[in-house]
Amino acid sequence: MGPAALAWEDGTVIYAGPASGLSPDGRTSRDAVEVDGAVLPGFVDCHTHLPFYGWRADEFEARMAGKTYRDLHGSGGIFRSARLLAEASDDEVMAFCRPLLEEMLEHGTTTLELKTGYGLSVEAELRQARLARRLSQEIEQTATVTLLACHAVPEGKTREEWVKEVCEVLIPAAAAERLAEAVDVYVEDIAFTVQDLERVAAAARAHGMAIRSHADQLGPSGAAEAAVAVGARSADHLNHVSPEGVRALGGSKMAAVVLPVSTLFLRADPPPVAELISSGAAVALATDFNPGTSPCLSIPEAISVAASLYRLPPLAAVVAATLNAAWVLGLHDRLGSLEPGKRADFVVLDSPDVATIPYRPGHNPVAQTWIAGERRYRRS
Ligand code: NIG
Ligand code: FE
Repeated sequence: MGPAALAWEDGTVIYAGPASGLSPDGRTSRDAVEVDGAVLPGFVDCHTHLPFYGWRADEFEARMAGKTYRDLHGSGGIFRSARLLAEASDDEVMAFCRPLLEEMLEHGTTTLELKTGYGLSVEAELRQARLARRLSQEIEQTATVTLLACHAVPEGKTREEWVKEVCEVLIPAAAAERLAEAVDVYVEDIAFTVQDLERVAAAARAHGMAIRSHADQLGPSGAAEAAVAVGARSADHLNHVSPEGVRALGGSKMAAVVLPVSTLFLRADPPPVAELISSGAAVALATDFNPGTSPCLSIPEAISVAASLYRLPPLAAVVAATLNAAWVLGLHDRLGSLEPGKRADFVVLDSPDVATIPYRPGHNPVAQTWIAGERRYRRS
C-alpha cells in the first residue's frame, strides 16, 4: 500500500484515500504535514461516568482481599461517590475533572459521553448534569450528557418511589433545561428491574431523549432483551447476557457496548463478544471510566484489554471505539470516521501498525490528537 492522505477545509474532511488521488498534478498544499504513524479517527468514548469527584482505591484493595462489588455497595460504591460529590463545591468538581479530560485528549479521545448517576436525588442529579454541561462547553472535545437517573436506590426511598420521581420530576426537569441527550438505567439485582427500565424508557422517549442501559453486568436479568424491546440505543457491559439477549441484539439496530477494563477489574466473566459479532450486533468499545469498576480513561488501554480478554482484533476494536461508538452517542453523521463531510477529528499513532495499540499495554501510542483540523495535543 502506498502513502495515504487526509485533507480538510474549515475543519471538515474533504479527502481521505491514497495520496496519489489527492490532486491531479500530485502536488500537496503548502501547509501539508507528513506523518509516519497510522492516522485513525479520533476515539469516541461512549460510556464514561465523568463528572465524579475523588477516588476509591481502598475499595479496589478490599476487593483484592476478597470482598465483592456487591459487598461494598452501601458503605462504598455508588453511594460513596455520591457523598464525595455532594461534599465538593462546583469549582472543586470542575478542577478535579479538567485534568482528566486533558489526559483523555492525550490518549486520543476527541468525543465522549458524560453521565450523571452520583446525584441520587432530583436536585443532586440536576446539579451533576449541569456540571457535565459546563464541562462539555469548556473542553476541546465534543461531549454528550446522559442522565443515569437510575443508578442506585436512594437511601430512605423505595425503588418504586424513586422510579416514579425520576419519570415524573427528574426527566421532565432535565428535558426542560436541555441538560441531557439520553437516559440510562442500571438493571441489576442491587439496583433496578427490567420493569423500571420500561417505565423510564417511556418517560425518556416522551421527552425526546435516547435510552441507554447498564445490562447484565453482575448477573443475568434479561436486561439486553428488554433494552432491545424498548428501542434503546445500547445495552452496555453484557457480561451475563443470555443467548436470547445476544439474538435480540443481533437482530436490532442497537449497539452492544463492551467495557473490558471493568471486566478485568471485577474479575468478571467476559461477555460473549464473538457470538455478539457473529449474531450481527454492532459492538462498541468504551472505558466505563469511573472510580469504582474502571479507573481507566484510556481508549488504547481498553483496546488492549479487549484484545487479550475478549480476543477482539485490533481493527475491529478501532471501529468499535470510533464509528460504532459515535452511533451510540447519535453523532455518527458527523463524527467517528474519516470521510468527506465529517469533522477532521483524528489521532496520529507513533507506529504505522494498528496492532501496536493492544500489543503494548501501558504505553500511550497516541503521538498527536487533532480536533476539527486543529492539533490539540502533540507528545513532547
Ligand atoms: O458501569 N455498575 C454500575 N455502574 C458503574 C460503576 C459505578 C461505581 O462503582 O461508581 C459501572 O461499572
Ligand atoms: Fe458504567
